[in-house]
Amino acid sequence: MTLSFPHGGTLINRWNPSFDYKKIAKQIELDGIALSDLELIGTGAYSPLDGFMRKEDYESVLHRMRLSDGTVWSIPITLPVTEQEAIKLSLGDEVRLVSKDETYGIMTISDIYYSDKHEEAQSVYRTRELKHPGVNKLFQRGDVYIGGQITLIKRIERNDFQSFYLDPQETREIFADKGWKTVVGFQTRNPVHRAHEYIQKTALETVDGLFLNPLVGETKSDDIPADVRMKSYQILLENYYPLDRVFLAVFPAAMRYAGPREAVFHAIVRKNYGCTHFIVGRDHAGVGDYYGTYDAQKIFSEFNQEELGITLLFFEHSFYCSKCENMASAKTCPHSSADHVILSGTKVRELLRNGETPPSTFSRKEVVEVLIAGLQENAVRA
Ligand code: ADX
Repeated sequence: MTLSFPHGGTLINRWNPSFDYKKIAKQIELDGIALSDLELIGTGAYSPLDGFMRKEDYESVLHRMRLSDGTVWSIPITLPVTEQEAIKLSLGDEVRLVSKDETYGIMTISDIYYSDKHEEAQSVYRTRELKHPGVNKLFQRGDVYIGGQITLIKRIERNDFQSFYLDPQETREIFADKGWKTVVGFQTRNPVHRAHEYIQKTALETVDGLFLNPLVGETKSDDIPADVRMKSYQILLENYYPLDRVFLAVFPAAMRYAGPREAVFHAIVRKNYGCTHFIVGRDHAGVGDYYGTYDAQKIFSEFNQEELGITLLFFEHSFYCSKCENMASAKTCPHSSADHVILSGTKVRELLRNGETPPSTFSRKEVVEVLIAGLQENAVRA
């Protein structure tokens, strides 16, 4: 076995920093999601996408979880504008893709179409409730979608953790240099707690390397900020992981909170970064009670292994059991839930924000210290 092939067969590269865009007058203002999507398309993380989706692909993704050519794809990657903005645009136009007066890319418009937000919400998020953060965001965005191939011209500048921003081409080379034939990807929007560590290390018993790939794009406001999390990942790895068998780099995409559909998307993107395996545990990318605990695992039965091209590693809800004196899950532990240390994400965030320490059976003490200090620092700055 070798590192996985990119999704669709070829790693897309639409990055051209010397592209001369000066004569292009029309422009589209990008929101945070579109800006991060532009960069991820340009670097090949979203291979085989080479631009924002045209109507044919959009509808196919909504109804079949596939691009129009049949390739598995579960999340619409679209460029929304308002009706007023759309009136100024025509098919064939070259437009600048702009954020805060900076041009990040250009696009050749090959489609202009109305979104179907109700259909999109129901099929992607399985709900139309505006309480759902992904659905809420969807309805805040423009109603007209602009499709077409992009060129990425400028990279987003980051003040912190720059060395952890790596493109798929780079991570693939790094994994190959390390001699890893099998690499398991791990997505998270949270600090890494003991249950995460347990499933990562269980996977690491059978593969060569672990790619810890936290999502650091837009998240909902009560999630722990990426800068605080980044410090916590580093201290955790330094203290508890075999450093020659783990690699940390960020995934700069926005969180959609689309549960099962997002799990498929997360797996495919990690395949593009070079992973051969991907972890899906309990309620992956879920929020509130919108998805069943294992829905994000069940969805993969709709595809065959060949078309996914990445091996899924599914894990049961894991916890520390005080009778086993070990991390465990219902698959390995015979004791009752009274013996299990289970804290909800909301509860943990509340503890940390109050400077209180969750038990070391839930989270490593070094991690907790960094999180409490980071959250307090952010609160002072705010
Ligand atoms: S998210 O990006 O998927 O929303 P989260 O940090 O909640 O991030 O989970 C990261 C990964 O760990 C997901 O695959 C999730 O299913 C898994 N996971 C989180 N907590 C547990 C747990 N207690 N037991 C098993 N898997 C878990």
